[in-house]
Amino acid sequence: MTERTLAIIKPDAVRKKVIGRIIQRIEDEGFEILGLKMVHLTREEARKFYYVHKDKPFYESLTDFMSSGPSVVLLLERENAIKHWREVMGATDPAQARPGTLRRQFGFSIERNAVHGSDSPQTAEYEIAFFFG
Ligand code: CDP
Ligand code: MG
Repeated sequence: MTERTLAIIKPDAVRKKVIGRIIQRIEDEGFEILGLKMVHLTREEARKFYYVHKDKPFYESLTDFMSSGPSVVLLLERENAIKHWREVMGATDPAQARPGTLRRQFGFSIERNAVHGSDSPQTAEYEIAFFFG
């Protein structure tokens, strides 16, 4: 089933100058890029985007990090886009992520893990609307 997902190249990866390599991987994996933009989230926007995690111990640090510099947000389409993009990203903690995944390749820590991906059709719908109206 063709579906859509929301991907983010997080501020750590933008600072590391690996936007190009991550977009190359996205194209190599067969995704259509339907939307792409650079955004510097405000702290309030980051808090809204990650609202589902508001009670987690990492929420404050995560939303500070996500508003610390520009990100690149992408609207992606592919067969099984949500699951496939999460496989390409790898586990949340780069140290646990399999070789060949983007988080293993470019992530720095469980927080600064280079990329984001929606985790369900409902989340994808919310996240796509958040950035692409
Ligand atoms: O991004 P993913 O869906 O893999 O993980 P999540 O559990 O939805 O957490 C969202 C984001 O919070 C992660 O990508 C990390 O940047 C951050 N996080 C963290 O800083 N510390 C944790 N223990 C778990 C997640
Ligand atoms: Mg998640």
